[in-house]
Amino acid sequence: SQEKNRYVIGVSQCSDDEWRTQMNKEIRREALFYPGVEVDIRSANDDNRKQTEDIERFIRRKVDLIVVAPNEAEAITPVIEKAYAKGIPVVLVDRRINSDQYTAYVGADNYEMGRQIGHYITTRLEGKGNVVELTGLKGSTPAADRHRGLMDVLSRTPGIQIVASADAGWFQKSAEQAFDSILTCQPKIDLVFAHNDRMAAGAHTAALRHGRANKMLFVGVDALPGKGLGVELVANGILDGTFIYPTGGDRVIQVAMSILEGKKYQRENLLSTAPVNRQNAHVMQMQTDHIATLDGKIEKLNSQLDAFLLRYSAQRMFLYACIII
Ligand code: FRU
Repeated sequence: SQEKNRYVIGVSQCSDDEWRTQMNKEIRREALFYPGVEVDIRSANDDNRKQTEDIERFIRRKVDLIVVAPNEAEAITPVIEKAYAKGIPVVLVDRRINSDQYTAYVGADNYEMGRQIGHYITTRLEGKGNVVELTGLKGSTPAADRHRGLMDVLSRTPGIQIVASADAGWFQKSAEQAFDSILTCQPKIDLVFAHNDRMAAGAHTAALRHGRANKMLFVGVDALPGKGLGVELVANGILDGTFIYPTGGDRVIQVAMSILEGKKYQRENLLSTAPVNRQNAHVMQMQTDHIATLDGKIEKLNSQLDAFLLRYSAQRMFLYACIII
């Protein structure tokens, strides 16, 4: 007989992209280690209304716990407070809300990342130069926090000016368009800091079109492994550097399960970052390639186990039928 689910975990992702795909994969895989746990993952495609509906649906379904990466803090806070008030534990991941009505947070400290990036920029420009900042969606907390951390460092470096800044909403195309018009009115740009690697890549494309790509440095955030993603962009010299923004899907499920099973857990679970530059990008690629091979093997083992269990239950049914006859 099929084991009845002990727990249903609703996961509400704000967006659908490589970073989220990796996190969702880690969430699903980690959940396999807890029998009887179902995860229901929904993506809001960067739409506050859709995310509110997704969370409303989880409340109606009476899920046991909600994991949520809120698209924009202000818009998503009320529905999260509503779920929390109904007694559903809420684990915030990567993005925060404007309220303390949540159970735990799992993700990096984006303010601290902004500061580290500020120091990186100061070192790379030797304390002097013109910088352009392409921010993530302004209403999302990682964008606000990365900006604040960056400014706290750069405002103390008088030789460095932010000559232009634009909200590119985390998207590659928007960054490409925004940077295209910035290029036409800024004759001297030494470095572009984009709040994620996708936007940094978009800015690079625009700079190539203007014949200015090799006159400036591009810095991003995320450092995802895989074809055409952050680590490879650094290894190929397209980006000067990027910072690991850990997806931590396994940690999310571990915290969620501790909450559900009444075990001890930490409310703030901060995941660490590290810079990726030309010196370490190749080593990182070797390691992440190896991890990807191991991941593939775990997935293969898992599907073999499923096939085996299916055959086993069919044989058992057959045996019962024989006994009854
Ligand atoms: C993925 C993403 C990342 C970024 C993070 C911020 O959806 O846009 O690129 O670092 O969200 O929340």
